[in-house]
Amino acid sequence: MSIAHGIRSLGVLGAGQMGMGIALVAALRAKVPVLLHDRSPEQITKGLSLMDKLLAKDVAKGRITSEQSKEARDRVTIVGGEVGVKGLRDVDMVIEAVSESLPLKQSIFASFAAELRLDAILASNTSSISITKIAASAIPNNVSAASEEGKKSAGRVVGLHFFNPVPVMKLVELISALQTTPETLDRARAFAVACGKEVTTSKDVPGFVSNALLMPFINEAIMCLEKGTATRDDIDTTLKLGMNHPMGPLQLADFIGLDTCLAIQQTLYEGTRDSKYRPSVLLERMVDAQWYGKKNGKGFYEYD
Ligand code: CAA
Repeated sequence: MSIAHGIRSLGVLGAGQMGMGIALVAALRAKVPVLLHDRSPEQITKGLSLMDKLLAKDVAKGRITSEQSKEARDRVTIVGGEVGVKGLRDVDMVIEAVSESLPLKQSIFASFAAELRLDAILASNTSSISITKIAASAIPNNVSAASEEGKKSAGRVVGLHFFNPVPVMKLVELISALQTTPETLDRARAFAVACGKEVTTSKDVPGFVSNALLMPFINEAIMCLEKGTATRDDIDTTLKLGMNHPMGPLQLADFIGLDTCLAIQQTLYEGTRDSKYRPSVLLERMVDAQWYGKKNGKGFYEYD
């Protein structure tokens, strides 16, 4: 078994587009056994079928052999909803990839603290939420945050921010909470490298570097549409052909998920209290209408 900086087994919590992609690169590139957990059986079925499709495409394109594809697939084990976080008890590292909600992440990291070994790394794939706040929830009940045990427990929490689609995008953004220890940072960085990624680091500020820059850009594009400055297609084509972006900003917003874009923008706005991050009314209304983009078939574009 290949070992990535001491990570002999990985837990991934959440089998959506991000969690599935992380499980795939960990199994295929870092060659680490992965326990993939999601409380929704439908999400697991969807995630595994996409994983099989991507592995089959890699084989068809001659990038990997069918043996390598089978070995990678065999490294992924499903942990069902009924077992919960207890099923990840023995892993060396866990990566949480659920939706962008602080209370949800706090309750997950509290269960990690209760169930996982004290030397296991606890990583969050959050796009914007404070890693320091998440780390503060990863301390067992009745343990003080200032005690040695409290510092050790929170010190294993780190931000490991992958980009969508995970198998294609080359970057992982590494975020240190106030509590994160240097050893946790080194091990998390080495693991991302073993997954085939380049790593940049960011301080724990709202949106980190990536979304503090990307989200105002997307929001300005939505405001251009809202004000009637240009049509949807002209906004996207301007950025695609004029600036060589692979996708226009409205198409990219659909791809990320409009609900996710709004959640990140709200974190930026509330975290900085700076009006330049205020989400556009059109984005809020589209999320009110439950038009979430590519994931549910309707956003700025329509999808089959
Ligand atoms: N999962 C896995 N692979 C995918 C994929 C998916 N959802 N979608 C496309 N791909 C793969 C394709 O299979 C194809 O692979 P091969 O070269 O092996 O055939 C490759 O990507 C190129 O795909 P296409 O030829 O179909 O289409 P394309 O050339 O338009 O590329 C794209 C698609 C890679 C998604 C490209 O449009 C792109 O780079 N878009 C920008 C994506 C981006 O900015 N992502 C970051 C979003 S921000 C984020 O994730 C973080 C956050 O915090 C919000």
